[in-house]
Amino acid sequence: MIIELPKLNFDPKSLAPAISAETIDYHYNKHHTMYVENINKLIVWTEFENLSLEEIIQKSSAGPIFNNAAQVWNHNFYFEALSPKPEIMPNLILLENIIEKWGSLDNFKVEFNKMAISNFGSWWTWLIKDKNSWKLDIINTSNAITPISNPENSQIPLLVCDVWEHAYYIDYRNKRAKYLDNFWKVLDWKIVERRFK
Ligand SMILES: [Fe+2]
Repeated sequence: MIIELPKLNFDPKSLAPAISAETIDYHYNKHHTMYVENINKLIVWTEFENLSLEEIIQKSSAGPIFNNAAQVWNHNFYFEALSPKPEIMPNLILLENIIEKWGSLDNFKVEFNKMAISNFGSWWTWLIKDKNSWKLDIINTSNAITPISNPENSQIPLLVCDVWEHAYYIDYRNKRAKYLDNFWKVLDWKIVERRFK
């Protein structure tokens, strides 16, 4: 099975000034594309050759196959929710859950951004919901680690921010907090809601 690179839902120039066309060019056309090319090469003649991307992530152990497969999935999830004309608020049920946990949408964003600047190195910051209770939480995962890597895991990802330097360094240099503030301007809650349902 060929692991495909999903097309972007937006024109690469259209997220500026939050995310520039140059950043999208490097991030999508170079980094994301490289992960897709790598995983397609790595699985040839292996037990993973005919598996879906999710199955590869869940059945591989730490190493190049897991890292590249998980990076493809994480980037698919990140780019899918970006839009030049985003829905800027979640719908009632999701919003109610956010308010119950963090008090307000703005406060949730503050807590999310705090998590996203708290780690050292390369990682992803996620809003997740519990499979059984529908409770929400914010987590960080290092390197390529993804909430879907363990099928027993009850964490369902709803949204992710890429906090690897390649996601923001061209536009923001070391000002990661500014990238995080502007991330919300292009995050489409319509996609997050669909995942929540
Ligand atoms: Fe990335």
